[in-house]
Amino acid sequence: MNSGKLKQAAELIRKAKYAVAFTGAGISVESGIPPFRGENGLWNTTDPIFLEIEFFNKKPFQSWQKIKEIFYDKLGDAEPNIAHDILAKMEKRSFLETVITQNIDHLHQKAGSRHVYELHGTYTQLVCVNCSSEYDKSFADLNYLPPTCFVCKGILKPDIIFFNEPIPEFAKKRSFQEANKADVLIIIGTNAEVLPAAKIPQVAKENGAKIIEINIKPSHFTNTVTDIFLEMKATEAMKEIGELLYL
Ligand code: APR
Repeated sequence: MNSGKLKQAAELIRKAKYAVAFTGAGISVESGIPPFRGENGLWNTTDPIFLEIEFFNKKPFQSWQKIKEIFYDKLGDAEPNIAHDILAKMEKRSFLETVITQNIDHLHQKAGSRHVYELHGTYTQLVCVNCSSEYDKSFADLNYLPPTCFVCKGILKPDIIFFNEPIPEFAKKRSFQEANKADVLIIIGTNAEVLPAAKIPQVAKENGAKIIEINIKPSHFTNTVTDIFLEMKATEAMKEIGELLYL
């Protein structure tokens, strides 16, 4: 049922002048990282308040306890899956220009993608809320929470975007520029629930891009911007697309 659409998608990518991928939590589910919503969704069992910026500023210890449990104790062992790997191969073979991701798990870079914009930041960096010094996560001993800055003793925060926190200006600007340039946008594993990230496909569409969407179920994009909907797991669809592109 998907084979015709997979061939169509691969042909679009092969002929594309500027293909861009837009990814969400769904691409990392098969690397063992739960999504935020839907089946096994993190927000089904964890109160998102721990990732509210006001809560973090008021109760950094409690926020860090939960953040360590849901991210730092889990993401470190996660490995890229074939979907991440194929995107990296597509970039190497010039079938893909950029990955715009909402994910903080660093798996695109681990798979070898070089042009990656992280709209919601990355768990691999910590930043001082007082003097803005930045550290790789390996510099912090997360057995002592909250971690503090070596320069000013201020509290270190994961360099991820909390709820009610603006997204990084550079990543936002460059991501929307990429969406403007794309003639093919590949959406993989996102619910389109969070703005401004969810606007990326609309901007690409308005500029004439063809939209390919890979998701295990329809999303808000499917009946609005999507041209080819591949109702499949990210690893299954990307494995097929990789074969069709002879990667
Ligand atoms: N393959 C493809 N898609 C999948 C798979 C899979 N194996 N498993 C789940 N999905 C899809 C789900 O159907 C859903 O549409 O991935 C999507 C995951 O949605 P969310 O968990 O809402 O993740 P995302 O869209 O990335 O969330 C956006 O919300 O909480 C904030 O900052 C957080 O970056 C996150 C943002």
